[in-house]
Amino acid sequence: MEHRALSRLAVPAVAALLALTTGCTGGTVQGRPGASGLRDPYFPKAGNGGYQVDHYALDLDYDPPPASGGGTPTSGQLNATAVITARAEQGLSSFNLDLSGLKVEGVTVQGEPARHNRTGNELTVRPAEDLKKGEVFRVEVDYGGKPKALVDADSSKEGWIVTKGGPDGGGAVAVGEPIGSMAWFPGNHHPSDKATYDITLTVPHGYEALSNGELRSRTDTGDGRTEFAWHSPEPMASYLATAVVGPYKVTTGKTASGVSVYNAVAPGEEAGSAGTLARLPEMVEWGSGRFGPYPFTTAGAIVLPKGSLTYALETQTRPVFPGAPQEEELVLHELAHQWFGNSVSPKSWKDMWLNEGFATYAEWLWAEDHGGAGAQKHFEAFLAGDTDVDEAADSDWDAFPPADPPGPEHISGNPVYYRGAMVLHRIRQEVGDAKFFDLVRGWAADHRHGNASTAEFTAYAEERTGHDLKKVWDVWLYGQDRPR
Ligand code: ARG
Ligand code: ZN
Repeated sequence: MEHRALSRLAVPAVAALLALTTGCTGGTVQGRPGASGLRDPYFPKAGNGGYQVDHYALDLDYDPPPASGGGTPTSGQLNATAVITARAEQGLSSFNLDLSGLKVEGVTVQGEPARHNRTGNELTVRPAEDLKKGEVFRVEVDYGGKPKALVDADSSKEGWIVTKGGPDGGGAVAVGEPIGSMAWFPGNHHPSDKATYDITLTVPHGYEALSNGELRSRTDTGDGRTEFAWHSPEPMASYLATAVVGPYKVTTGKTASGVSVYNAVAPGEEAGSAGTLARLPEMVEWGSGRFGPYPFTTAGAIVLPKGSLTYALETQTRPVFPGAPQEEELVLHELAHQWFGNSVSPKSWKDMWLNEGFATYAEWLWAEDHGGAGAQKHFEAFLAGDTDVDEAADSDWDAFPPADPPGPEHISGNPVYYRGAMVLHRIRQEVGDAKFFDLVRGWAADHRHGNASTAEFTAYAEERTGHDLKKVWDVWLYGQDRPR
C-alpha cells in the first residue's frame, strides 16, 4: 500500500521527499540541524554540535540592582549583544546556542535576520541560507533581561550572582563552572570548544567592571557610564569567562618576568587580602619554574564581598574569591588551574580530576618548596586520616574513583581533588622526581591552550616516563575500592 501511495506522487515530489530524508539534492550536500548537545557524560545537553566558535565579542550594559529592593525598573537589567564568529563543521540548516533565561530580541547570521526559537536552555537559530561545511560565519544575538543565578547539581550557585556593595547597593559576579555561563551569554557552552574573547562591560560611574585578560580601554561614555573593554587573546573555555561589577579597589603590578597583574578587591576585604595577594607575583614565577611558562599575558585576582559564593573559581587569568582568601594555598590552587584546567582544559566533565588533582597537587608542591608539609607527607596523611597535616585527610576522599564520579553532583567532590592528587603522587613514586616533573611540564606544554582527556593523560604518562603504570590507573584512578 505504501508503494502505491508513493507511485501516485509526481517525480519531482519523490525527488524532494528523498532529498528531505537523505539531505541531498542533485549531488550538493544541504545543511542539516546541528546537534543540541555534545553528549557530555555528565551534562549531555551542554554545548552544541555542528560548529566550533573562534571568537566571542560580548557587549554587556548592566545596571546593578540596589541592595535592598526598590530601585528603578532597569535595576538588575542587562542589555547585551553577543557577536559569535564560528566555523561550520557540517552543512547546517540550523544550529543551537545554549542560553538560560533572558529575552532574545533578534538574531542575525551573516548580517541577515535569522529565525530563532527557545526550548529549555537551547536557542535554535535557522539562518536564511544554509551554512556550508567549513564556512566561517558570524552570528549576532541581541538579548537582555535580568540574568539569574542557577543552582548547580551539587546545590552550589553559579551563573549571574548579585553581590553586596556598590554606591547604590549591589554589584554582580558571573561564574560558569560547569554550566553557569549560559545564564549570561549565548554560546557553545562546553569546555571542548575554546575561543578567544572580547568582553566589554558598561556600568554606571562609581563602579569598576572586571573580566578576563587585558584591559584594552576604559572610556567615559559621556552619559554617566564607563565602558571597560577586556580582551582575552588566548583561547578560553566558556565556563572560565567572568564579569564582575562593583565598587572594587584596583591595584596593578608586574611579576619579575613581566606578566602583568591586575587585582580587584571589594570594600572591606583589603586588609584581609593584602598578605596573600602580595605573594601572587612570586607564585606566578614559582609555577612557571615548576610547570613551564605561565600560559597567559596577565594574572590577578578578584576578591568579592564575603559570602558572595561558597567557593573560589579559577576564572581565566583572574580567579574570583568569596572574600579575602585566608590561606595562600587557595590563591596558589586557583593560580595552578591557569596551567591545569585553563590552558590544558578537560575534554569532558568526566576529566575534571585533571583540573582538581593537579591544582591540589600544586598546593602540596608549593608547601614542599616553602618549608611546609610536602607531597609525600600529604599522601601519607590521607592514608592515615591525619588531619594535623591536612584538614581533608578524614574526608570522603576515597568515596569514588577520581576518573569516574558517580554523577554530575560529584564532579567537584573530594575524591576528584584529593584522590586525584594522590594519583599524581603515585606516579611520582613509581617514576622518580626527574621523570615526574618532566611529565608535568611536558603535559602542560604539549596540550597548551588545548583540551585533553584522561585516556590521553594515562597514555602520555606511560610514553613520556617509559613506565608501565597500569596498576596506578587500575587502583587509584579507576578502582572502586579504597586504595591501600
Ligand atoms: N573549580 C573550583 C576550584 O576548585 C571549585 C568549583 C566548585 N563548584 C562547585 N559547584 N562545587 O577551585
Ligand atoms: Zn580547583
